[in-house]
Amino acid sequence: MKKLLIKNIGLLQGCSLHGDKPLRGAALATVESIANAYLATDGERIASFGEMAACPPECDFHQVIDAQGGIVHPAFCDSHTHIVYAGSREGEFLDKINGLSYEEIARRGGGILNSADRLHDSSEEDLTAAAHRRLRIAAALGTGAIEIKSGYGLTLDDELKMLRVIARLRNEMPQMEIRATFLGAHAVGRAFTGRQSEYVDHIINDMLPAVANQGIAQFADVFCDKGFFTVDETDRILRAAAPLGLLPKIHANELDCSGGVQIGIAHGALSVDHLERIGQAEIDALAASDTVATMLPGASFFLGMPYGPARAAAAGGCIVALASDWNPGSSPSGSMPMVRALGSIKMKLTPDQTLNATTINGAAAMGLTSTMGTITPGKYASIVIYRPEITNPAYIPYAYTEPLIQQVLLKAQPQL
Ligand code: NIG
Ligand code: FE
Repeated sequence: MKKLLIKNIGLLQGCSLHGDKPLRGAALATVESIANAYLATDGERIASFGEMAACPPECDFHQVIDAQGGIVHPAFCDSHTHIVYAGSREGEFLDKINGLSYEEIARRGGGILNSADRLHDSSEEDLTAAAHRRLRIAAALGTGAIEIKSGYGLTLDDELKMLRVIARLRNEMPQMEIRATFLGAHAVGRAFTGRQSEYVDHIINDMLPAVANQGIAQFADVFCDKGFFTVDETDRILRAAAPLGLLPKIHANELDCSGGVQIGIAHGALSVDHLERIGQAEIDALAASDTVATMLPGASFFLGMPYGPARAAAAGGCIVALASDWNPGSSPSGSMPMVRALGSIKMKLTPDQTLNATTINGAAAMGLTSTMGTITPGKYASIVIYRPEITNPAYIPYAYTEPLIQQVLLKAQPQL
Protein backbone atom coordinates (compact mmCIF):
# COMPACT_ATOMS: atom_id res chain seq x y z
CA MET A 1 0.00 0.00 0.00
CA LYS A 2 1.20 3.46 -0.85
CA LYS A 3 2.73 5.38 2.07
CA LEU A 4 2.67 9.15 2.12
CA LEU A 5 4.41 11.54 4.51
CA ILE A 6 3.34 15.12 5.08
CA LYS A 7 6.20 16.92 6.79
CA ASN A 8 6.72 20.42 8.21
CA ILE A 9 3.11 21.00 9.24
CA GLY A 10 3.10 24.33 11.11
CA LEU A 11 0.10 23.36 13.23
CA LEU A 12 -1.73 20.03 13.05
CA GLN A 13 -5.25 20.72 14.31
CA GLY A 14 -7.91 18.25 15.38
CA CYS A 15 -5.58 15.44 16.27
CA SER A 16 -6.64 12.86 18.77
CA LEU A 17 -5.60 9.33 19.58
CA HIS A 18 -9.24 8.23 19.82
CA GLY A 19 -11.43 10.92 18.30
CA ASP A 20 -14.61 8.93 17.97
CA LYS A 21 -16.76 11.10 20.24
CA PRO A 22 -18.67 14.22 19.20
CA LEU A 23 -17.84 17.30 21.25
CA ARG A 24 -20.19 19.36 23.41
CA GLY A 25 -19.95 22.11 26.02
CA ALA A 26 -16.42 23.18 26.92
CA ALA A 27 -14.95 20.41 24.77
CA LEU A 28 -16.36 22.07 21.62
CA ALA A 29 -14.10 25.05 22.27
CA THR A 30 -10.91 23.01 22.41
CA VAL A 31 -8.98 21.85 19.35
CA GLU A 32 -6.19 19.44 20.17
CA SER A 33 -3.18 20.58 18.16
CA ILE A 34 0.52 19.88 17.67
CA ALA A 35 2.96 22.52 16.42
CA ASN A 36 5.71 21.48 13.96
CA ALA A 37 4.16 18.16 13.14
CA TYR A 38 4.19 15.34 10.62
CA LEU A 39 1.41 13.06 9.41
CA ALA A 40 2.03 9.64 7.89
CA THR A 41 -0.46 7.63 5.86
CA ASP A 42 -0.73 3.99 4.87
CA GLY A 43 -2.99 3.48 1.85
CA GLU A 44 -6.04 5.64 2.37
CA ARG A 45 -5.73 5.78 6.16
CA ILE A 46 -3.76 7.78 8.71
CA ALA A 47 -0.90 5.69 10.10
CA SER A 48 0.62 8.07 12.65
CA PHE A 49 1.20 11.70 13.53
CA GLY A 50 3.44 13.56 15.94
CA GLU A 51 6.10 16.20 16.32
CA MET A 52 8.60 16.65 13.49
CA ALA A 53 11.32 15.66 15.95
CA ALA A 54 9.80 12.16 15.91
CA CYS A 55 9.17 12.06 12.13
CA PRO A 56 9.92 8.65 10.59
CA PRO A 57 12.66 8.57 7.89
CA GLU A 58 11.54 9.83 4.47
CA CYS A 59 12.98 6.73 2.80
CA ASP A 60 10.14 4.72 4.35
CA PHE A 61 7.61 6.55 2.15
CA HIS A 62 6.61 6.45 -1.50
CA GLN A 63 5.83 10.18 -1.54
CA VAL A 64 6.64 13.16 0.67
CA ILE A 65 4.62 16.39 0.73
CA ASP A 66 6.31 19.39 2.34
CA ALA A 67 3.58 21.50 3.99
CA GLN A 68 6.21 24.27 4.40
CA GLY A 69 4.76 25.31 7.74
CA GLY A 70 1.12 25.32 6.61
CA ILE A 71 -1.72 24.57 9.02
CA VAL A 72 -3.47 21.20 8.55
CA HIS A 73 -6.86 20.07 9.84
CA PRO A 74 -9.24 17.19 9.12
CA ALA A 75 -11.40 17.51 6.00
CA PHE A 76 -14.83 19.02 6.54
CA CYS A 77 -17.82 16.75 7.14
CA ASP A 78 -20.80 18.46 5.50
CA SER A 79 -23.74 16.65 7.06
CA HIS A 80 -26.64 18.35 5.24
CA THR A 81 -26.85 18.97 1.49
CA HIS A 82 -29.25 18.66 -1.43
CA ILE A 83 -26.69 18.67 -4.26
CA VAL A 84 -28.59 16.43 -6.68
CA TYR A 85 -30.70 18.94 -8.56
CA ALA A 86 -31.41 20.07 -12.09
CA GLY A 87 -30.86 23.60 -13.29
CA SER A 88 -30.74 26.48 -10.84
CA ARG A 89 -33.21 28.95 -9.35
CA GLU A 90 -31.79 32.40 -9.89
CA GLY A 91 -35.26 33.51 -11.06
CA GLU A 92 -36.42 33.11 -7.47
CA PHE A 93 -33.30 34.92 -6.38
CA LEU A 94 -34.73 37.94 -8.18
CA ASP A 95 -38.14 37.37 -6.53
CA LYS A 96 -36.37 37.37 -3.16
CA ILE A 97 -34.50 40.56 -3.99
CA ASN A 98 -37.87 42.09 -4.83
CA GLY A 99 -39.22 41.17 -1.41
CA LEU A 100 -41.01 37.81 -1.68
CA SER A 101 -40.42 35.41 1.22
CA TYR A 102 -39.35 31.76 0.90
CA GLU A 103 -42.89 30.71 1.87
CA GLU A 104 -44.53 33.06 -0.65
CA ILE A 105 -42.34 31.70 -3.43
CA ALA A 106 -43.24 28.14 -2.40
CA ARG A 107 -46.98 29.03 -2.35
CA ARG A 108 -46.75 30.30 -5.93
CA GLY A 109 -45.49 26.91 -7.06
CA GLY A 110 -41.84 27.91 -7.03
CA GLY A 111 -39.34 26.54 -4.59
CA ILE A 112 -39.06 22.83 -4.11
CA LEU A 113 -41.82 21.99 -6.65
CA ASN A 114 -40.02 24.03 -9.29
CA SER A 115 -36.88 21.91 -8.71
CA ALA A 116 -39.00 18.73 -8.76
CA ASP A 117 -40.38 19.62 -12.21
CA ARG A 118 -36.90 20.17 -13.58
CA LEU A 119 -35.54 17.03 -11.98
CA HIS A 120 -38.37 15.00 -13.51
CA ASP A 121 -37.27 16.16 -16.98
CA SER A 122 -33.58 15.38 -16.40
CA SER A 123 -31.80 12.14 -17.14
CA GLU A 124 -29.93 10.22 -14.47
CA GLU A 125 -26.73 10.84 -16.46
CA ASP A 126 -27.20 14.61 -16.55
CA LEU A 127 -28.10 14.75 -12.86
CA THR A 128 -25.04 12.69 -11.98
CA ALA A 129 -22.73 14.88 -14.07
CA ALA A 130 -24.05 18.07 -12.46
CA ALA A 131 -23.83 16.70 -8.92
CA HIS A 132 -20.37 15.29 -9.64
CA ARG A 133 -19.25 18.78 -10.64
CA ARG A 134 -20.60 20.09 -7.31
CA LEU A 135 -18.77 17.35 -5.42
CA ARG A 136 -15.51 18.39 -7.10
CA ILE A 137 -16.11 21.98 -5.98
CA ALA A 138 -16.80 20.80 -2.43
CA ALA A 139 -13.65 18.67 -2.41
CA ALA A 140 -11.54 21.60 -3.58
CA LEU A 141 -12.92 23.60 -0.65
CA GLY A 142 -11.91 20.88 1.80
CA THR A 143 -15.00 18.69 2.17
CA GLY A 144 -14.20 14.99 2.61
CA ALA A 145 -17.56 13.61 3.73
CA ILE A 146 -20.99 14.70 2.62
CA GLU A 147 -24.61 13.78 3.19
CA ILE A 148 -26.88 14.16 0.16
CA LYS A 149 -30.67 14.14 0.31
CA SER A 150 -33.32 13.16 -2.18
CA GLY A 151 -36.48 15.29 -1.98
CA TYR A 152 -36.67 16.90 -5.42
CA GLY A 153 -38.36 13.80 -6.81
CA LEU A 154 -41.60 13.66 -4.80
CA THR A 155 -42.80 10.66 -6.83
CA LEU A 156 -41.68 7.11 -6.18
CA ASP A 157 -39.79 6.90 -9.47
CA ASP A 158 -38.09 10.26 -9.18
CA GLU A 159 -37.10 9.79 -5.53
CA LEU A 160 -35.49 6.46 -6.48
CA LYS A 161 -33.84 8.17 -9.45
CA MET A 162 -32.25 10.70 -7.09
CA LEU A 163 -31.03 8.00 -4.73
CA ARG A 164 -29.56 6.04 -7.65
CA VAL A 165 -27.70 9.21 -8.67
CA ILE A 166 -26.23 9.41 -5.17
CA ALA A 167 -25.18 5.75 -5.43
CA ARG A 168 -23.46 6.51 -8.74
CA LEU A 169 -21.63 9.44 -7.16
CA ARG A 170 -20.30 7.09 -4.49
CA ASN A 171 -18.84 4.89 -7.21
CA GLU A 172 -17.47 7.77 -9.25
CA MET A 173 -15.82 9.54 -6.33
CA PRO A 174 -14.86 6.93 -3.73
CA GLN A 175 -12.41 9.27 -2.02
CA MET A 176 -15.44 11.30 -0.82
CA GLU A 177 -17.45 9.64 1.96
CA ILE A 178 -21.08 9.95 0.86
CA ARG A 179 -24.24 9.19 2.82
CA ALA A 180 -27.74 9.24 1.30
CA THR A 181 -30.93 10.47 2.92
CA PHE A 182 -34.45 9.79 1.68
CA LEU A 183 -36.44 13.04 1.89
CA GLY A 184 -39.72 12.16 0.18
CA ALA A 185 -41.41 14.41 2.76
CA HIS A 186 -39.74 17.57 1.48
CA ALA A 187 -42.97 18.94 -0.05
CA VAL A 188 -46.23 17.40 -1.24
CA GLY A 189 -45.76 16.03 -4.77
CA ARG A 190 -47.85 17.75 -7.45
CA ALA A 191 -49.98 14.66 -8.06
CA PHE A 192 -51.18 14.92 -4.45
CA THR A 193 -51.93 18.65 -4.33
CA GLY A 194 -54.58 19.25 -1.68
CA ARG A 195 -54.25 15.65 -0.45
CA GLN A 196 -51.31 15.89 1.92
CA SER A 197 -52.33 13.01 4.19
CA GLU A 198 -52.64 10.70 1.16
CA TYR A 199 -49.13 11.75 0.11
CA VAL A 200 -47.88 10.85 3.60
CA ASP A 201 -49.61 7.46 3.22
CA HIS A 202 -47.86 7.03 -0.13
CA ILE A 203 -44.49 7.77 1.49
CA ILE A 204 -45.17 5.25 4.24
CA ASN A 205 -46.75 2.49 2.18
CA ASP A 206 -44.82 2.74 -1.08
CA MET A 207 -41.76 4.96 -0.99
CA LEU A 208 -40.13 3.91 2.29
CA PRO A 209 -40.38 0.15 1.59
CA ALA A 210 -38.99 0.62 -1.94
CA VAL A 211 -36.09 2.73 -0.69
CA ALA A 212 -35.29 0.23 2.05
CA ASN A 213 -35.65 -2.69 -0.33
CA GLN A 214 -33.07 -1.25 -2.68
CA GLY A 215 -30.68 -0.40 0.16
CA ILE A 216 -29.85 2.99 -1.33
CA ALA A 217 -30.37 5.30 1.66
CA GLN A 218 -29.07 5.28 5.20
CA PHE A 219 -31.27 8.03 6.64
CA ALA A 220 -34.84 9.35 6.43
CA ASP A 221 -35.69 13.04 6.66
CA VAL A 222 -38.92 15.07 6.95
CA PHE A 223 -39.31 18.82 6.44
CA CYS A 224 -41.22 19.28 9.71
CA ASP A 225 -42.18 22.93 9.53
CA LYS A 226 -44.95 25.46 9.02
CA GLY A 227 -46.51 25.01 5.60
CA PHE A 228 -44.78 21.66 5.03
CA PHE A 229 -45.24 18.56 7.27
CA THR A 230 -46.77 18.49 10.74
CA VAL A 231 -45.35 16.90 13.88
CA ASP A 232 -47.96 14.12 13.61
CA GLU A 233 -47.05 13.40 10.00
CA THR A 234 -43.36 13.41 10.92
CA ASP A 235 -44.10 10.98 13.74
CA ARG A 236 -45.95 8.63 11.38
CA ILE A 237 -43.16 8.69 8.79
CA LEU A 238 -40.41 8.10 11.35
CA ARG A 239 -42.34 5.24 12.95
CA ALA A 240 -42.47 3.57 9.54
CA ALA A 241 -38.80 4.32 8.79
CA ALA A 242 -37.38 2.88 12.02
CA PRO A 243 -38.08 -0.83 11.39
CA LEU A 244 -36.61 -0.40 7.91
CA GLY A 245 -33.31 0.70 9.45
CA LEU A 246 -33.52 4.28 8.16
CA LEU A 247 -32.24 6.58 10.90
CA PRO A 248 -33.94 9.96 11.22
CA LYS A 249 -32.35 13.30 10.35
CA ILE A 250 -34.99 16.02 10.53
CA HIS A 251 -35.47 19.49 9.01
CA ALA A 252 -36.84 21.34 12.04
CA ASN A 253 -37.60 24.84 13.28
CA GLU A 254 -36.47 26.73 10.18
CA LEU A 255 -39.68 28.66 9.56
CA ASP A 256 -41.44 28.29 12.89
CA CYS A 257 -41.11 26.75 16.33
CA SER A 258 -42.43 23.58 14.73
CA GLY A 259 -42.04 20.88 17.39
CA GLY A 260 -39.65 19.19 14.99
CA VAL A 261 -36.81 19.18 17.50
CA GLN A 262 -38.81 17.31 20.13
CA ILE A 263 -40.21 14.74 17.72
CA GLY A 264 -36.74 14.19 16.28
CA ILE A 265 -35.25 13.58 19.71
CA ALA A 266 -38.16 11.30 20.65
CA HIS A 267 -37.24 9.14 17.63
CA GLY A 268 -33.53 9.13 18.48
CA ALA A 269 -32.70 11.23 15.42
CA LEU A 270 -29.03 11.35 14.49
CA SER A 271 -29.50 15.07 13.98
CA VAL A 272 -32.12 17.80 13.84
CA ASP A 273 -31.18 20.45 11.34
CA HIS A 274 -31.77 24.17 10.66
CA LEU A 275 -32.90 25.31 14.17
CA GLU A 276 -33.13 28.98 13.26
CA ARG A 277 -36.12 29.22 15.59
CA ILE A 278 -35.32 27.39 18.80
CA GLY A 279 -35.50 28.55 22.40
CA GLN A 280 -34.19 27.33 25.72
CA ALA A 281 -36.65 24.39 25.82
CA GLU A 282 -35.18 22.98 22.59
CA ILE A 283 -31.62 23.65 23.74
CA ASP A 284 -32.25 21.83 27.01
CA ALA A 285 -33.85 18.89 25.23
CA LEU A 286 -30.96 18.62 22.76
CA ALA A 287 -28.37 18.93 25.52
CA ALA A 288 -29.98 16.00 27.31
CA SER A 289 -29.85 13.86 24.13
CA ASP A 290 -27.26 12.48 21.71
CA THR A 291 -29.02 14.10 18.76
CA VAL A 292 -26.71 16.50 16.93
CA ALA A 293 -27.95 20.11 16.68
CA THR A 294 -27.02 20.98 13.10
CA MET A 295 -27.24 24.61 12.08
CA LEU A 296 -27.04 25.91 8.51
CA PRO A 297 -25.81 29.49 8.51
CA GLY A 298 -25.63 29.59 4.71
CA ALA A 299 -29.44 29.37 4.53
CA SER A 300 -29.82 32.18 7.07
CA PHE A 301 -27.36 34.27 5.09
CA PHE A 302 -29.01 33.65 1.74
CA LEU A 303 -32.64 33.96 2.88
CA GLY A 304 -32.05 36.80 5.35
CA MET A 305 -33.42 34.67 8.18
CA PRO A 306 -32.34 34.69 11.81
CA TYR A 307 -29.23 32.62 12.55
CA GLY A 308 -29.61 29.59 14.81
CA PRO A 309 -28.48 30.32 18.38
CA ALA A 310 -25.31 28.27 18.03
CA ARG A 311 -23.44 29.97 20.83
CA ALA A 312 -26.24 29.44 23.36
CA ALA A 313 -26.70 25.85 22.15
CA ALA A 314 -22.98 25.18 22.56
CA ALA A 315 -22.93 26.77 26.02
CA GLY A 316 -26.04 24.77 26.93
CA GLY A 317 -24.28 21.48 26.18
CA CYS A 318 -25.67 20.55 22.75
CA ILE A 319 -23.58 18.74 20.16
CA VAL A 320 -23.46 21.61 17.66
CA ALA A 321 -22.59 20.92 14.02
CA LEU A 322 -22.52 23.35 11.11
CA ALA A 323 -23.32 22.27 7.55
CA SER A 324 -23.79 23.97 4.18
CA ASP A 325 -27.37 22.97 3.21
CA TRP A 326 -26.16 23.31 -0.40
CA ASN A 327 -29.35 23.44 -2.49
CA PRO A 328 -30.67 25.59 -5.35
CA GLY A 329 -33.31 27.43 -3.32
CA SER A 330 -32.06 28.46 0.08
CA SER A 331 -28.29 27.97 0.06
CA PRO A 332 -26.61 27.80 -3.34
CA SER A 333 -23.15 27.24 -1.87
CA GLY A 334 -21.27 24.26 -0.53
CA SER A 335 -18.39 26.25 0.86
CA MET A 336 -17.56 24.93 4.31
CA PRO A 337 -14.90 27.65 4.75
CA MET A 338 -17.76 30.15 4.30
CA VAL A 339 -19.91 28.18 6.75
CA ARG A 340 -17.11 28.46 9.31
CA ALA A 341 -16.78 32.18 8.67
CA LEU A 342 -20.54 32.70 9.14
CA GLY A 343 -20.35 30.56 12.27
CA SER A 344 -17.89 33.01 13.73
CA ILE A 345 -19.09 36.30 12.22
CA LYS A 346 -22.83 35.78 12.64
CA MET A 347 -23.19 33.08 15.28
CA LYS A 348 -20.29 34.18 17.47
CA LEU A 349 -18.63 30.80 17.67
CA THR A 350 -14.86 30.85 18.05
CA PRO A 351 -12.75 29.55 15.17
CA ASP A 352 -11.94 26.49 17.29
CA GLN A 353 -15.65 25.85 17.88
CA THR A 354 -16.43 26.16 14.17
CA LEU A 355 -13.62 23.75 13.31
CA ASN A 356 -15.02 21.09 15.64
CA ALA A 357 -18.57 21.83 14.46
CA THR A 358 -17.61 21.28 10.80
CA THR A 359 -15.40 18.22 11.34
CA ILE A 360 -15.99 15.77 14.19
CA ASN A 361 -19.52 16.94 15.00
CA GLY A 362 -20.46 16.92 11.33
CA ALA A 363 -19.09 13.37 11.19
CA ALA A 364 -21.31 12.49 14.17
CA ALA A 365 -24.35 13.83 12.29
CA MET A 366 -23.62 11.22 9.57
CA GLY A 367 -22.59 8.36 11.86
CA LEU A 368 -19.00 8.64 10.61
CA THR A 369 -16.94 9.35 13.73
CA SER A 370 -14.99 6.11 13.43
CA THR A 371 -13.53 7.11 10.05
CA MET A 372 -13.74 10.91 9.69
CA GLY A 373 -13.61 14.16 11.61
CA THR A 374 -10.28 14.00 13.46
CA ILE A 375 -6.64 13.23 12.75
CA THR A 376 -6.59 9.78 14.33
CA PRO A 377 -4.63 6.67 13.33
CA GLY A 378 -6.92 4.34 11.39
CA LYS A 379 -9.24 7.10 10.15
CA TYR A 380 -9.20 8.19 6.51
CA ALA A 381 -6.32 10.46 5.54
CA SER A 382 -8.69 13.25 4.48
CA ILE A 383 -7.17 16.60 5.34
CA VAL A 384 -6.90 20.24 4.33
CA ILE A 385 -3.43 21.84 4.02
CA TYR A 386 -3.33 25.65 4.16
CA ARG A 387 -0.84 28.01 2.55
CA PRO A 388 2.38 28.47 4.53
CA GLU A 389 1.97 32.20 5.09
CA ILE A 390 -1.01 31.57 7.39
CA THR A 391 0.32 30.97 10.85
CA ASN A 392 -2.66 31.81 13.07
CA PRO A 393 -5.66 29.47 12.57
CA ALA A 394 -8.05 32.33 13.41
CA TYR A 395 -6.94 33.94 10.12
CA ILE A 396 -8.78 31.23 8.20
CA PRO A 397 -12.41 32.20 9.05
CA TYR A 398 -11.36 35.85 9.38
CA ALA A 399 -10.01 36.33 5.84
CA TYR A 400 -13.10 34.62 4.55
CA THR A 401 -12.77 35.32 0.83
CA GLU A 402 -9.04 34.67 0.38
CA PRO A 403 -8.10 31.41 -1.33
CA LEU A 404 -6.11 29.95 1.55
CA ILE A 405 -6.02 26.26 0.74
CA GLN A 406 -2.74 24.80 -0.53
CA GLN A 407 -3.90 21.20 -1.01
CA VAL A 408 -6.74 18.87 -0.07
CA LEU A 409 -6.09 15.16 0.37
CA LEU A 410 -9.10 12.84 0.46
CA LYS A 411 -8.25 9.28 1.46
CA ALA A 412 -4.64 10.32 0.77
CA GLN A 413 -5.39 11.43 -2.81
CA PRO A 414 -4.58 15.02 -3.81
CA GLN A 415 -7.67 16.85 -5.07
CA LEU A 416 -6.10 20.03 -6.47
O1 NIG B 1 -32.89 22.84 3.67
N1 NIG B 1 -35.82 23.65 4.11
C1 NIG B 1 -36.07 22.83 3.25
N2 NIG B 1 -35.32 22.41 2.25
C2 NIG B 1 -34.19 23.07 1.77
C3 NIG B 1 -34.55 24.06 0.72
C4 NIG B 1 -34.94 23.43 -0.49
C5 NIG B 1 -35.28 24.32 -1.64
O2 NIG B 1 -35.71 25.49 -1.47
O3 NIG B 1 -35.12 23.83 -2.74
C6 NIG B 1 -33.39 23.65 2.90
O4 NIG B 1 -33.24 24.85 3.07
FE1 FE C 1 -32.03 21.26 3.83
